[in-house]
Amino acid sequence: LITRAFRSQFVIPDFQDFIKDVEEMYWAAKSNSDGKVASYIPQLARASAENWGVSVCTIDGQRFSIGDVNVPFTLQSCSKPLTYAMALETLGPDVVHKYVGTEPSGRNFNELVLDYNMKPHNPMINAGAILVCSLLKTLDRPEMTLAEKFDYVMSFFSRLAGNEPLGFNNAVFLSEREAADRNYALGFYMREHKCYPEKTNFRECMDFYFQCCSMEANCDIMSIMAATLANGGICPITDEKVLRPDSVRNVLSLMHSCGMYDYSGQFAFKVGLPAKSGVSGAMLIVVPNVMGICTWSPPLDPLGNSCRGLQFCDDMIKRFNFHKY
Ligand code: DON
Repeated sequence: LITRAFRSQFVIPDFQDFIKDVEEMYWAAKSNSDGKVASYIPQLARASAENWGVSVCTIDGQRFSIGDVNVPFTLQSCSKPLTYAMALETLGPDVVHKYVGTEPSGRNFNELVLDYNMKPHNPMINAGAILVCSLLKTLDRPEMTLAEKFDYVMSFFSRLAGNEPLGFNNAVFLSEREAADRNYALGFYMREHKCYPEKTNFRECMDFYFQCCSMEANCDIMSIMAATLANGGICPITDEKVLRPDSVRNVLSLMHSCGMYDYSGQFAFKVGLPAKSGVSGAMLIVVPNVMGICTWSPPLDPLGNSCRGLQFCDDMIKRFNFHKY
């Protein structure tokens, strides 16, 4: 980092100027009072609508954070690109995509629907993520108990985040599992259609999915994960090669087409960047070869995306030419 600084070789050379823009965009979005905090479980409903944080980590490790960036939130659907990345890395894309498709569903994230092959449409919606969890549980180191698998996945996520420790919210986990009629319906529907690998333990696989949704991180940590994805799978903080470039390409492609719920097409059109949102109000945004961003603000629009997060992205695309096209 220091050598690059002396040579002025940073990917964003005028980082201080960039920070000024980020601050302006942050304050502009802060006054946005649109949206409603997710309320399908009481633990999420308690989140404060006021919370708003933005963290940036460039591929050469320059970092900036503003707002509530150290307050923990559960990963929720932001875990989906991470479990998918891990499955690609350990099992390879051919195995993973024998079981799950690569097509936007055009429907809600938890809708009871499979594609024309009777597979889940993609790994970024609930059905696909439950399936990816079954692959990780059943095919990758099948000898591991559920407890060992939990540790194994958590430490993989942590490596994506420069070895920052992740947390786990047991109250959210327990109530996710209690309030999971739709997810169980999806799970059983896929079992009916023989979507899982042989020997899948259905209950364990569902629990594993709820556990992944209930892991905790904050903006600061998640921006490093996004930066690892922006940097071809090499974590900019530790320089560890966590993902192969082909895994990163697959993850980013599906974040681009399927990461923002049923707004993904519009987001790809307007913002043109791979991103993934979750019901806790978090958003992972990747500017390939430049930086990773995490925004967090709990109030969601009717499609489930964070209102302030979306405003931040719109604003950023007006100021910088990050849109892929
Ligand atoms: O499984 C669920 O429905 C929630 N735990 C997570 C939903 C979420 O963030 C939306 N996903 N695409």
